[in-house]
Amino acid sequence: MKAADERRLLPGYIGLAIPRAWDRIPWDKLRGVVMVVGAVDTGKSTLIKFLWGQLAPHRRLAVVDADVGQATLGPPTTQTLRLASEEVPEEFPPRGRIARWFVGAISPRGHMLPTVIGVHRLTSLARRWGAETILVDTTGMVSPSVGGVALKWAKFDLVQPNVVIVLQRERELEPLIAPWRSVQRFVLVELPTSPLVRTRSREERIAWRQQRFRLYFRRARLLSVPLQAFSLLYDRTATAGGTVLVPGQLVGFLDRWGFLMALGIVRRIGDQNIEVFTPLRDLGRVAALRPGSIVLDEDYRDRRLSFRATAPSPSTVDASPTMSSPDASSPSSP
Ligand SMILES: Nc1ncnc2c1ncn2[C@@H]1O[C@H](COP(=O)(O)OP(=O)(O)OP(=O)(O)O)[C@@H](O)[C@H]1O
Ligand SMILES: [Mg+2]
Repeated sequence: MKAADERRLLPGYIGLAIPRAWDRIPWDKLRGVVMVVGAVDTGKSTLIKFLWGQLAPHRRLAVVDADVGQATLGPPTTQTLRLASEEVPEEFPPRGRIARWFVGAISPRGHMLPTVIGVHRLTSLARRWGAETILVDTTGMVSPSVGGVALKWAKFDLVQPNVVIVLQRERELEPLIAPWRSVQRFVLVELPTSPLVRTRSREERIAWRQQRFRLYFRRARLLSVPLQAFSLLYDRTATAGGTVLVPGQLVGFLDRWGFLMALGIVRRIGDQNIEVFTPLRDLGRVAALRPGSIVLDEDYRDRRLSFRATAPSPSTVDASPTMSSPDASSPSSP
């Protein structure tokens, strides 16, 4: 690392290498939604933390962690909005007001709509809660071949960021950002990654998710859920008739506005009730359940559920979820 690249900042930032080019960050313009975009392991989450530390003394801040795979503010499969706390606004992760959205998968692949909608709902809520700057951390899915470019463009259109900060090693984001340079719909800030960014292996990513799920469910208990009382929203098997939940399946308990109240793991399925392992203590404010697209084993390792739904024939309907091998979270899929 070149000496010129290193600059030590506030106590919380010791060890952070800030490239000189980051001087280009237009601090005055960081208002409204500020989206950070980059491939996996480019330092997106670290940049968010850095921006937070610099902006916290001056603005009412919120952060939306939209990375459902390597989530930093909540369990995987979810997106989390958090406001700065009133008492210690510079604290990160922040501990102010919170809201969550359930995507139900550990990658946006095959779940583009809930991913985009979640970012929109959470940033809208942050605005309503009075945040002046909303920092949005995103997944590293940026490759056009897996729909990453389409995903980010849809987010630009729906969420309408004021600023998009891109982090690149070389010019890997060119297909994503080139069309926006002349459009002037948002301020585009192009930054190089820090030389100190450390890449994480597939195993480390799996272990991270496992650890985050374990932490989330540490105080969970079994809760009996009368199925008749709740709609299963967005149930992929329902379109082919009937509903199939399987033991181990992750589900989200949603409030009446669609926000996530808590996650649960289906343990037993009866005729009338299902038993769900969840930190939720009662079903009081629950309006609906949303089945997730993964199952978790006893060790909180996730596997993807794929729904093979065949078109309904006059007499039978087949909509059976099958389990695939551990989700391929290769370095190119977050
Ligand atoms: N500017 C920096 N200085 C020093 N270390 C850094 C810097 N940026 C990132 N790192 C280190 O590199 C690793 C990856 O960074 P980070 O988690 O921010 O990347 P990311 O793009 O959010 O990754 P992912 O795609 O998994 O979400 C972390 O261990 C982090 O501490
Ligand atoms: Mg990250």
